[in-house]
Amino acid sequence: MKKKVLCAGIPGLALLVGGVLVVRLGLLPVNADASPSSLEMRLFPMALRAAVARQAKQIQSRSVHDEDAEAGKEIYAALCADCHGRLDGRSGALGISMYPPAPQFPGHARSYTGPELFWLIKHGIRNTGMPAWRNRLADQDIWNLAAFLENLPDRGPAESH
Ligand code: HEC
Repeated sequence: MKKKVLCAGIPGLALLVGGVLVVRLGLLPVNADASPSSLEMRLFPMALRAAVARQAKQIQSRSVHDEDAEAGKEIYAALCADCHGRLDGRSGALGISMYPPAPQFPGHARSYTGPELFWLIKHGIRNTGMPAWRNRLADQDIWNLAAFLENLPDRGPAESH
């Protein structure tokens, strides 16, 4: 029994020591001007989607009105467009320079529900360039942004105002 535990423990320990060494020797890439690996592209969005779905469960959905989406559009142009893409179809230069890059909304297929968008905007996404907007925006502003994003067409640039 003791031998079995030892056999399982040694590879685990070697992995741990190897991992610490990679970190301490500065071998992990930390630059933002690279494309995320395919593993990161698959794993992180999966974890994010599951976490957001879980967190947003407690949030009551709301019906989307045109006035809300219109108000959201103004906030988007002022606070989000530099990262997520401008309303005239040009990309957000700041956002596409990040790692992971910010999705360009006017053309990005979104599959989040209203409450999920509300949660994402209010709380942000850890270890990415996506800020938590709860200190800057009131809940109603965040609902307006969610309404605007829900109303955006999936493909092609959004209509300019
Ligand atoms: C400084 C850059 C920056 C700003 C400003 C910013 N975001 Fe983001 N946002 C990001 C990045 C980077 C991601 C991608 C994070 C990731 O890969 O999970 C993101 C992700 C998101 C997502 C999740 C989208 C998806 O499909 O995974 C939503 C929704 C979002 N942002 C909404 C907003 C809104 C609304 C605003 C304006 C109030 C805003 N963001 C402002 C950088 C930004």
